[in-house]
Amino acid sequence: MSLQPKHIYVTLCTLFIVYSFSIYLQPYFKNTVADTDAIAAGRIVWQKNNCQTCHQLYGLGGYLGPDLTDVYSAPGKGKDFIRAMLATGIKQMPPFHLSEKEFAQLTAYLKSVDESGNADPRQFKKLNTGMIEEK
Ligand code: HEC
Repeated sequence: MSLQPKHIYVTLCTLFIVYSFSIYLQPYFKNTVADTDAIAAGRIVWQKNNCQTCHQLYGLGGYLGPDLTDVYSAPGKGKDFIRAMLATGIKQMPPFHLSEKEFAQLTAYLKSVDESGNADPRQFKKLNTGMIEEK
């Protein structure tokens, strides 16, 4: 029996179905340790207080303040630093009087953002050939 178009067709259809199932059966979050409820609530705190109008996450958002994608793990910054910034405000940023619960949720969100991406994805090295290469 020689290989006929219909065999290829059936094979491709079968692979398509198997692959689709394998994708849809994967959980949304691979990280099952993280407190996803707190993270989701923290995103709401972030949105309700309009942090994104002045700050970026993953490079997207307003440009009055700095990108906060990595603020949670940045040297000399982190949770206490964020607390101080919110309590006092800085430059054009007004103070935000969040409850302890809201603060915990907001920092859980910022921590998860930090773990999942970088502030500036555009980090390239210029090569002598005139090309660029990701760092
Ligand atoms: C009206 C615009 C505005 C809003 C809204 C705002 N910020 Fe800011 N934020 C700023 C500016 C401006 C700075 C200071 C930038 C500088 O130091 O030059 C800042 C600084 C910060 C810093 C210090 C960042 C660093 O790396 O030095 C943190 C943390 C921060 N904001 C968190 C927040 C959070 C969380 C919210 C929402 C609850 C928020 N901000 C809402 C304008 C804003």
